[in-house]
This record gives sequence, structure tokens and C-alpha cells, in this order.
Amino acid sequence: MEKTLTKNESEQNWEEFFKLDLNEKMDFYEREGKIYDCLFAQQLSKKLLDVLFDIADKLRKITKEKEGADYIASLLSHKRAMLYFVQPSTRTFLSFLNACHIMGMKTSEIRDSSTSSEVKGESHDDTVRTFSSYVDIIIMRHPKPGSAERTAWLLNKTNRPVPVINAGSGKDQHPTQALLDIYTLHRQFNGNIDGKRIVMVGDLKRGRTVRSLSYLMKNYKDISIDFVSPKEFKMERDILDFLKNHNIPYTETEDFASVMPQADAVYMTRIQDEHDNISGESKKVDYSPFYFKEEHLKIIKPSCILLHPLPRRFEIDAQADKDERAVYWRQERNGMWIRAALMAYIFGIEKKIK
Ligand code: CP
Repeated sequence: MEKTLTKNESEQNWEEFFKLDLNEKMDFYEREGKIYDCLFAQQLSKKLLDVLFDIADKLRKITKEKEGADYIASLLSHKRAMLYFVQPSTRTFLSFLNACHIMGMKTSEIRDSSTSSEVKGESHDDTVRTFSSYVDIIIMRHPKPGSAERTAWLLNKTNRPVPVINAGSGKDQHPTQALLDIYTLHRQFNGNIDGKRIVMVGDLKRGRTVRSLSYLMKNYKDISIDFVSPKEFKMERDILDFLKNHNIPYTETEDFASVMPQADAVYMTRIQDEHDNISGESKKVDYSPFYFKEEHLKIIKPSCILLHPLPRRFEIDAQADKDERAVYWRQERNGMWIRAALMAYIFGIEKKIK
């Protein structure tokens, strides 16, 4: 008969621990009731989001002047961050790097595992343990789902744990993207996200940003979601079950135009072959019905905003950029402020940001 492991025993065994329900292991990634490792969007409660929005708003105001920027840059000048990005990134990498600099942190980086000793056969575990010998926080993007959690799990059992932030792991989660997306919705809707109808469009099956953002909807009242995708790239069952369990109504459709007029926000995504284009099956999908074209600007409400995690390919007509409802360039800049806020919170210096 198979033995049921106790929680303590599970903590020693990665495979067993990884399988646990998130609610059972959430406290393993917290310290004194606060988030320590930021790995999943489900960790981000309404209370925490409001705290982070407030810190980010203050940071952007205070750092406008040199005196304020110098003060903020003194707060974490004793901390060092490792940016371990072994999957391509432009804005997540740059926004974290600049967020570290805003907070005064020194940074190290590896952007390709072929330039680390992994190429000599060093294991992932030994690699990240080495980082923790030198730095105070690890921010990591990795192609393998669960890799950020594995790193946090491993380091939390060593005598030199450091916080781990998931900056995108495989196709499962991108919690800090969801954080900047929700911060953008919060700013654009003057703090009132409740009651909004969000349309998410594109490759929902392999889009980690839409997965993480969907989790955050648990924090708001009377939200509804329309998922628009080709049938090959529909939102995965686990997210639909999560929404059902949290009484968040959703629809699924291939008819983009049918949901545009009611939308308060349209969240576009690109096709994401990098995750598993083994047979090139996505090349056979006609993605053009899922593009936002210039003429659609006449269909959406005057108050509807248009978001995209970026990078984009063809799915938003560049002609839409000049419309004030297209907020994706503001969205990516919001990422720098909210990521700085997250690090301020993790290091417990938020009360010094006044
Ligand atoms: N949105 C996002 O994760 O962009 P990058 O891949 O450029 O970091």
C-alpha cells in the first residue's frame, strides 16, 4: 500500500511537494505572514495588491525629483539582485533591472545558460544555490514550468535562503506580468475594477500572462471574462475550473466582434510557438480573426481600454497605437514601478516610502 507522506516529509521530496494543492504549500513561500517568494498569481490577495499599488504610486511621485530619487535609491543599496533570464525577454528583464536600480540595488545577470557553468553539466539546483551565495534575491525567467518554484523550494531548505521572483516560467505562470496588468487596470479605471468585463484574446492555451491574470480576478467583485481564441488555443481546463470555483462568469467564443462592444478592457495576446511548436501545428491555424484592426476602434466603447503584454506581432494594428484607449505602452512602464514596489515589500521597507 502506498504510504501517505506527512507535510514535513513532502517538503523534503520535490515531486511530492510540487503536487500539493497550492493552499497546502502557500505558507512555505511566506515569512511572518508575508509573501517571501513570489511564484504564483494566486499569492496576490486584494489586500496585498492595494498595498503594492500604493507603494508604486508613491515611488513614481517621489522619484520625479533628484532628492526623492536619491532617497529611494538609498533604501536597498545594501542589497544585490540576480537576474537569471535564460529565456528571451526584453521588457520583463529591463523593467526588473531598472526597478532594482530605482531601489538602489546592485545587479548581476545571466541571460543564456550557455554562458553559465550549466554548459559544463552543473545542475540547475547547484546553479541557483551558487547565486544565493552572492545575492539577496533571485529574479528568474526559465522555459521550464515550475522552475521558479523548484528554486524557491530548494533554497528555502538551505541555510542561505533568498527570495525568488518568478519572471515567467514555461507556459504556466507570469505573476508579475499579471501584477502590472492589474495595476494598469487599477490606474485606468480609477481604482474601480469591480464589475468590469474583460475580453482576453489569442493563444490562451499557451499564454502564461492570461493564465496569471485570470487568477487575479478572484480579488474583484462582479467581474466577467470573455475568452476569444481559435479552437486549437482555448483556455485550459484548470483556469476555467478556478473561475467556476470562484463564481466568476466566463464565456468562450471564436467570434471576436461579438464581444467587442460590451468590453471594458480587451487584452490581446500573440501566438506563442516558443513553448511547444513541436509539429508546427500552430502554423496551420488562421489567426487573423483574432487580430485587433484599426476599424475595431469604432466598435469598442469610448471607455474600453486595449492592453497587450507585448511583444506583439500582427495582432494589434500599429495604427491603434495613437488611440488614447491603447494603453500597452503605459502598461509596460507600469511594470517597472510595480516590480520596484514588489521588491520594496519583500524587503520590508515599504513604510519608509512616504
Ligand atoms: N511581457 C513580457 O513578458 O515581455 P518580454 O518577453 O519582453 O519580457
